[in-house]
Amino acid sequence: MSIAMVGDKVFRLNTKAFSYVVYIGPEQLPMNAYWGPLVEHDSDFADAAFAREPLHFPPQHLWPQEYAAFGGLFQKETSIRVCFEDGVGDLRLRFSHHTICDDHLCLTLLDQDRPLTVELWYRVRENENIVERWCCVKSNVAQPVTLINCATAQFSLPGTGYCSTNFTGRWSGEFQQKTTPIDCGKLVYESLYGLTGHQCGPFFAVHQGADETDGMVWFGALAYSGNFKVTVENVCGEHLNIVAGINDSTFQRTLHNGESFETPHLFAGCAKGFGQMSRTLHHFALQKLLPSPMCRSVLPVLYNSWYSTEFAVNEQQQLALARIAAGLGVELFVMDDGWFRGRVDSTAGLGDWTADSVKFPNGLTPLIDGIEALGMRFGLWIEPEMVNPDSELYRAHPDWILRYAGREPIQWRNQYILNISNPAIQEYLFSSLNDLLHEYHISYLKWDMNRYMAEIGSVGTEQEDFALCHAYTEGVYSLARRLRNAHPTVELEACASGGGRVDYGAIQYFDEFWPSDNTDPLDRLLIQQHYSLLYPPKCMRSWITDDTAFNGRQIPLQFAIYTAMCGALGIGVNLALKDSETLSAIGCYIEQYKAIRPIVQLGSCYRLSSFEASPLQAVQYLLENSGVVFVFLHSAQYGKSRYRCLLQGLKPTNLYSCRAGDLCYVKSGSYLMQHGLELILHGDWSSVLVTLEAVEG
Ligand code: GLA
Repeated sequence: MSIAMVGDKVFRLNTKAFSYVVYIGPEQLPMNAYWGPLVEHDSDFADAAFAREPLHFPPQHLWPQEYAAFGGLFQKETSIRVCFEDGVGDLRLRFSHHTICDDHLCLTLLDQDRPLTVELWYRVRENENIVERWCCVKSNVAQPVTLINCATAQFSLPGTGYCSTNFTGRWSGEFQQKTTPIDCGKLVYESLYGLTGHQCGPFFAVHQGADETDGMVWFGALAYSGNFKVTVENVCGEHLNIVAGINDSTFQRTLHNGESFETPHLFAGCAKGFGQMSRTLHHFALQKLLPSPMCRSVLPVLYNSWYSTEFAVNEQQQLALARIAAGLGVELFVMDDGWFRGRVDSTAGLGDWTADSVKFPNGLTPLIDGIEALGMRFGLWIEPEMVNPDSELYRAHPDWILRYAGREPIQWRNQYILNISNPAIQEYLFSSLNDLLHEYHISYLKWDMNRYMAEIGSVGTEQEDFALCHAYTEGVYSLARRLRNAHPTVELEACASGGGRVDYGAIQYFDEFWPSDNTDPLDRLLIQQHYSLLYPPKCMRSWITDDTAFNGRQIPLQFAIYTAMCGALGIGVNLALKDSETLSAIGCYIEQYKAIRPIVQLGSCYRLSSFEASPLQAVQYLLENSGVVFVFLHSAQYGKSRYRCLLQGLKPTNLYSCRAGDLCYVKSGSYLMQHGLELILHGDWSSVLVTLEAVEG
């Protein structure tokens, strides 16, 4: 049983790997009794309350509450805050009753004298080692109640010495993993950009000095692509309080009598080391979250013409690129920005999702037919949430953008944001994209989002409309959901100026992500490594390009393409400018990639070493009896060319045949994990791909 009661006050939730135990403590408040590796003897928790109730005065401050309400004696970060019509600004929640239904537990709390209910939901994903949490607030109060804050979940961990790991970053420098001690005060990770953003992630990963393979990591990934807030707080130097959910700085929701509000969900777990944490989340995403029907199959090798042609696209030039791409083994040809009405550059066209009649006088059909005749599928770039002032859409509906009444709206990249929380705008976008997908045989859309939100308002709204930010995110999900339902085989990629919308909410609507506009292989290796802390390599698009803009350096093809082969391979180089030798080399690498692709995209990922701590960066993938290891060396030093790399996850007694080019040898799993895989990497920008195959002992 994944959920059991111990006595009448303790709820024990077990996955295969960990237990999560909640008890109803003093003042009828749900509190955490335990969160850690599996404890199989349920009655151990019969006296759960004893273990965690502090002797402090006042003790309430240290209660390990599952969902603390603002008010009373609670001064630490709380999960919920309301304001009643008469100005009363606190909630006095008390446990009322529970329901257990299969793998779901609901603890219902009720304000002690007003009919406002808070349901704490837990879903035990037993096989995936995840406890899913969310909250639902229901009002039966006669007058409207304003929800000022309504987080998804709160957690607490006993003791001190915790650190928090998250990302910092920016455009083209996403996913830089950082660890911060939480010795005092609060650490807040948040977005106020209207979307997930580049600067940190909607998740927590806390530990007492864990590394890749050791030390317990407690984690929670928020399924949300809007303004989020994750607070990690050291309370009185005695326990850790974690609250995650929608950012209350830009949130408000009025509940009328009979109305309810459900928060985004969060996926929590605990694992030994960051490696195990990542594999738990990757496996969960692959098994349960990524949208069907593509979730279990491999993603195609794509070509994208953006870096070759930018906005200046036309039929002949795209077909010329497509002919070369098809010859190399590319499976999906994508025309990026520039194809739609009036789109000469970034100043015009966004909002008008029909083919530009100057660039494509016969529409897109001749191009698509040509690409399909070459044996490839066809895809397009869109940016549905945006509008340029120079567009038919804006001329017809200048009032559809986010703006404050009476103020000059702010442009960024020459564009405004459509108020997608408005059902009429959602309807327009759905019908224009639906028409596009009906008119043409399109099997992929790259959904971009290239600016941050500035004005949380709309015409007719005198003040900031705090309900708007969350409604906007729901609008994005609703549009994606409708498009997916109407066109289930169309692959959707999420891009937001690179990796600005990568999270466990978006992963349920998009098949893949573009983690960064930075395609410099050295930068990209670190971005990819840290991206994989949470997100599976399968849905990590990675291209080789000619772009040297970031660091002004040329990196050898093998190093660059092996970097891209660590995820879902894409080609973004200008094929028209490549000599036949380079083209044939790219073709060989694509063939090699297709042979290992199921292992990379569907297997388990092990980060073996990183440039941050070693001259080598190495990553390993395992799927049943097969494995792949990529190893990179960017700078040779002191004439050293022989290295060893300790593998992980193998069966110690199995024999593995290891192949790197012409070199082949057989070693046991324990040898490869303890002595290491022997490698020769000679000179700057060296890289090697080793395949592993279990053989009969
Ligand atoms: C953004 C994306 C790029 C490309 C351009 C097109 O910058 O991140 O990959 O699609 O838009 O305008």
